[in-house]
Amino acid sequence: MRCIWRGYAMIKIALPKGRLGLKVYSLFEEAGYKFEGMTEKTRRLVFENEELEMMCFWVKPYDVPVYVERGTADIGACGKDILMERKPDIYELADLNAGQCTIAVAGKNDFSDDASRTLRIATEFPNITREYYRRKGRMADIIPLRGSVEIAPVLGLSDVIVDIVETGATLRENNLRVIETICSISARLVANKSSYQFKREEITQIMRRVTG
Ligand code: PRP
Repeated sequence: MRCIWRGYAMIKIALPKGRLGLKVYSLFEEAGYKFEGMTEKTRRLVFENEELEMMCFWVKPYDVPVYVERGTADIGACGKDILMERKPDIYELADLNAGQCTIAVAGKNDFSDDASRTLRIATEFPNITREYYRRKGRMADIIPLRGSVEIAPVLGLSDVIVDIVETGATLRENNLRVIETICSISARLVANKSSYQFKREEITQIMRRVTG
């Protein structure tokens, strides 16, 4: 742990724990940025490579922009969905072309919309959802949830959901279907604004190698 606090020059990277994080980490590894133990099934969260003068840590996907915005991480990777939802004050440097999926409105297979009624929408993305229905001029009752949103229309908590669709398997297995696609998303490389100013050379090199 000595190394973590050693120097200002060290590049600190926040990666999202989970499926997307593993895809992104493999891009870092292929680019020559390897952190011993990073993919082992342990509870450890912080890893360093003294030779590269870099450290890397796993955080909840939704928290990546918090670490980057506050400068605890110089750079990070997170889904465009999280950037759209949180609107953090950070730089979006590059599309990592990983974790491509869509944000979509989905409902039960037999769903039919009644435009005269307020639509009840369960979602992990209340801001994206509010903005989408505001633009459509549709009355929306947004029900924020923290996961497993697919069960909301099945159990009658909501009429539809706004959620991420990758393979569509989760929707199919819960007898739901896509009604409208809101946008396409993928993983993005992000940077703290002052880190990008003061460590631009190092960050640019990482960006080139990871996206190359
Ligand atoms: C996401 C999303 C869907 C699922 C879609 O959930 O919320 O549930 O992936 O993927 P699919 O189209 O390939 O089935 P995730 O696994 O990230 O967990 P969460 O439900 O906790 O958000």
